[in-house]
Amino acid sequence: MSVTVRVPAKVNVQLAVGAARPDGFHDLANVFLAVGLYDEVTATPSPGGLRVTCSGPDAGQVPLDRTNLAARAAEALAARYGRTPDVHLHIAKDIPVAGGMAGGSADGAAALLACDALWQTGASRPELLEICAELGSDVPFSMVGGAALGTGRGEVLTELEVGGTFHWVFALADGGLSTPAVFREFDRLTEGTDVPEPVASPELLTALAKGDAHALAATLVNDLQPAALSLRPSLADILAAGTAAGALAALVSGSGPTTAFLCESAAAAEKVAETLSASGTCRSVRVTAGPVPGATVL
Ligand code: C5P
Repeated sequence: MSVTVRVPAKVNVQLAVGAARPDGFHDLANVFLAVGLYDEVTATPSPGGLRVTCSGPDAGQVPLDRTNLAARAAEALAARYGRTPDVHLHIAKDIPVAGGMAGGSADGAAALLACDALWQTGASRPELLEICAELGSDVPFSMVGGAALGTGRGEVLTELEVGGTFHWVFALADGGLSTPAVFREFDRLTEGTDVPEPVASPELLTALAKGDAHALAATLVNDLQPAALSLRPSLADILAAGTAAGALAALVSGSGPTTAFLCESAAAAEKVAETLSASGTCRSVRVTAGPVPGATVL
């Protein structure tokens, strides 16, 4: 008996970042959109105890110890229900690793849902979301999918209506960027300045609700982008190449280093991907669309 859960990546169409809080986190207005790049996590009983394995082109970069959010999800659920986390979690990884697309968070949400189904805990949805929030700021959104506004440190979600499908190209860069390091760079760059309270953009929410790609392109914003570019200046070349190739807008995805290009249509996205691929500025490109549903048992 095993359970497989499919879980999507995300892009932040707005990432407004406030000043560092006393606990080191930052208040956010974080508009998430789930997009069609997926990891799959399979949970199988493992009498020998908790074990994590991973397959896929970047599997070598995925930690297989207890720092993996999938392992931590299994432990958290087991602890809550007074059982041992005797499960083998296999991650079939397609979401870029340390790429700013919530790949680790996705695996946490997927493992939680898979173990919940395997162990038949009977946990309620709010209970699962509470565990997600304990695991990490982006984990609740990986569970929920679609589109949502995340406030607090990103874990307090309000689901959003989306009036259409948005077409994207994602450019993968060599190596990852550490999220804490990008937030630290944000703090360094904004030191001594008055960082405004993060608020969701009404224009952006309207563009999402209407499914209007041009209006969304005009409002995309990521406050972490200067920090990501400061740590990885070569990302500017990828952004410029995608814009020159005809994308409506370009931005760094979350804390990067994946860059995201919003396109007018699926055909336009294919064209931008081809040009970006040939530009030699990035490791590889992926074409996809969103919104898509969150973690789902297959
Ligand atoms: O919540 P999560 O564990 O995914 O966050 C990883 C790191 O990113 C945190 O330790 C913190 O350094 C940074 N972070 C932040 N503010 C947020 C979310 C994350 O500073 N709202």
